[in-house]
Amino acid sequence: MPKPVILDCDPGHDDAFAIWLAAGDPEIDLRAITTVGGNGTLTHTTYNARVVTGLAGIAGVPISPGADSPMVRLLSPAEGIHGANALGGPELPAPTVAADPRTAVELIRDTLDGAGEEVTIVATGPLTNIAMFVRTYPDRLSRIKEVVWMGGSTGRGNITPYAEFNCWTDPEAAAIVLGSGLPFTMIGLNVTHQVLITPEVVARIGAVGNRTAAFGVELLNYFNSTYETDQGMPEGPLHDPVAVALVARPGLVTTVRTRLDIELHGTETAGATSVDLLGKLRRPPNASVATGVDVEGFWRLLEDAIRALS
Ligand code: RIB
Ligand code: CA
Repeated sequence: MPKPVILDCDPGHDDAFAIWLAAGDPEIDLRAITTVGGNGTLTHTTYNARVVTGLAGIAGVPISPGADSPMVRLLSPAEGIHGANALGGPELPAPTVAADPRTAVELIRDTLDGAGEEVTIVATGPLTNIAMFVRTYPDRLSRIKEVVWMGGSTGRGNITPYAEFNCWTDPEAAAIVLGSGLPFTMIGLNVTHQVLITPEVVARIGAVGNRTAAFGVELLNYFNSTYETDQGMPEGPLHDPVAVALVARPGLVTTVRTRLDIELHGTETAGATSVDLLGKLRRPPNASVATGVDVEGFWRLLEDAIRALS
């Protein structure tokens, strides 16, 4: 049976592929999309979610905007990677789907209430919406199967030497969700930097031959160009769909149970994810953290999902 999923995202080039994988893979039942300020302003990330769902022919999946800023800190969009509109590169077709009138927290509430089973939340941006939901509806957490988050890292960061962008944007939200007791899986840069957008990958996606693939190739090429300039990586890592892939095919991603803590106060390390893989702190494990990915299996899954779209 397909797994019910809510996807919380900040499209964002790699978020677009996360949406397409969630919508196109037969093992996922994409019930709702919520958007958050992150790669771009909430206005841009919500508009972009509408664009990439409409373009792919994804219908019947409500899209609700959530938080336009982090819980405590100021939003600092990743324009250097995603562009001024958070989906730089291709000319954006007019969206064919309207945003849902509910807020993200209301849509998550209603999706959980109507699911009749536990729902997995996949988050590929800052965790602000999920933290707001935890704080607003603590009595509904039992309706969430787990939170699977693309964020953090067992190693270095990408927005500061030690912090990954999603966590750095809203570390307080990450700490709230992690501390809520919800089953929590983190897929960090240490894994997503293994799924690199090589020329062969671009060719494979392009060869799918539909509208989604053609638009996706433009996104990949733009993302690679900015990643080279901003990160010194000519082949960018397609971070976010790895979180969806873990839900769709758990065997594709290796995880370990370990201790995860979020640094909130460091002058140089705010937003860092402290992953105590050696158990040095002797604190009880509180998360599953990804340590590996079947790269070929991941690309094949994504290719097949895009093939199932328009
Ligand atoms: O650090 C990578 C993460 O930050 C990805 O989710 C990307 O979309 C950006 O949001
Ligand atoms: Ca993202």
